[in-house]
Amino acid sequence: MLNASVSPQPPTRFPDVPVYSGWCSPSRIEADIFELEVEGEVPAELNGRLYQLGPDPQLPNRLGDDVLFNGDGLMRMFTFADGHVDYRSRYVLTEKLKLERAARRSLFGAYRNPYTDDLTVRGKSGGTANTSAYFHNGKLLALKEDSLPVEMDPATLETIGLYDFDGAVTSKTVTAHPRTDPRTGEHFFFGYEAKGLATRDVAYYVADAHGKIIHETWFEGPYCGFMHDFVVTDDYVVFPFMPAVADLDRIKAGGKHWQWDPTKDTQFAIMPRYGTTEEIRYVSAPPRFAFHFFNAHNDGTTITIDGSIAEGFHSPYSYPDTLGNAFDPVASTPLVRRWTLDYAEGTFGEEVLLPECTEFPVIDDRFETGTNRVGFALVRGGGQTHPDVMHGPLGLNTIVRYDFEKSQVVSSYVLGATSSGQEAIFVPRYDGASEGDGYLLLLANRYDTMLNELIVLDAVKLEDGPIATVKLPFRVHFAFHGCWVPQYLSEG
Ligand SMILES: [Fe+2]
Repeated sequence: MLNASVSPQPPTRFPDVPVYSGWCSPSRIEADIFELEVEGEVPAELNGRLYQLGPDPQLPNRLGDDVLFNGDGLMRMFTFADGHVDYRSRYVLTEKLKLERAARRSLFGAYRNPYTDDLTVRGKSGGTANTSAYFHNGKLLALKEDSLPVEMDPATLETIGLYDFDGAVTSKTVTAHPRTDPRTGEHFFFGYEAKGLATRDVAYYVADAHGKIIHETWFEGPYCGFMHDFVVTDDYVVFPFMPAVADLDRIKAGGKHWQWDPTKDTQFAIMPRYGTTEEIRYVSAPPRFAFHFFNAHNDGTTITIDGSIAEGFHSPYSYPDTLGNAFDPVASTPLVRRWTLDYAEGTFGEEVLLPECTEFPVIDDRFETGTNRVGFALVRGGGQTHPDVMHGPLGLNTIVRYDFEKSQVVSSYVLGATSSGQEAIFVPRYDGASEGDGYLLLLANRYDTMLNELIVLDAVKLEDGPIATVKLPFRVHFAFHGCWVPQYLSEG
């Protein structure tokens, strides 16, 4: 247990702990690179910007240790133009980072536990804006689920400031995983702990294509669960309460924000897309944890959700659980699972579609909130020979294309025995109308050289390998999530 009454002297160097070691070592590089080196040929039709956001600790945490999720957000931008690629990266200048830079030392303590912060920053935001780069209504947003979005200039990456949809969003938090309906441009998002630390309040918003809030629903969930992602279908929205649970007393005592509680069920709060609190129906399921879903669709009142889903929390962070059980790496391995919920009948079903460790599921965004057939994800493909690949975040060294109609992997590419991958981003071919016809942009972590390569793959024929390999002259940290913004949108 850590406590603000214990005021440790912040370390002046990054200590030798796993979160600051190997590939997780802070990179901390803000850079501008003109004309990255390329092997092969970048397709000329790839014109636009790839944004990626991830944690990269600016300073060693004052407590001498930390978790990956707590690093300062660093935005990366690859600008593609006529077969050439330039690079820029900038920190998101959060209130936390500005205060710590001014003090030249870490002031904020454990992940989402203000009771471990230096007393001089009491009441200040410890939000790190480190999870997801998202583009909507011409705005580039750096998202982290414990705070409001931070807007950045999409060309210079200068931080503009907190974005609350022109004052319309009063939730204290906004998810890092909003959903957009490409048919209407509507933007769906929520905040949990919406009224403050460890509260059960959830705020749900719909913004139109111009960023105007057109719908808002507040409700109290069954408990304060770690709700990292949610799904929207043609007719419904589903909020999954999964039993990694926040408890204010534990947090006040300096404990972890999240603890796995296998005595609680998973609870799905389901309501119509533009529903009211009174229209919410709950469906129960065994304890499960999912960071990410591919997508979801509904057929009448039956809702189908595909995701990367485990029977426990994916990392030792939330353990021992409330019953004193230790982390179980097998039960906590995320597999591709399909959930079937029924809003009218209140039923739950589950099947394993792909019994392999899988994370960072993505789809062709043109099908988001509708029915998709194709998904892409990183898989622990086996054959890893470098210990850091084995023990890095899930050891994900293979990218797969999954066909939900055939219920099988239809194409895949192994990044290599000494490599792992970061989230792939799908870019549709310029004239590619069919689902999944386009390119995947994927940042490979090369553990043998400790450098990164951005590879461009044909999304239909992954096994053909990279069409182009864009080389970064230094290692960057793990990013969590990114987005592709076509040139015509990114330059107004
Ligand atoms: Fe995520």
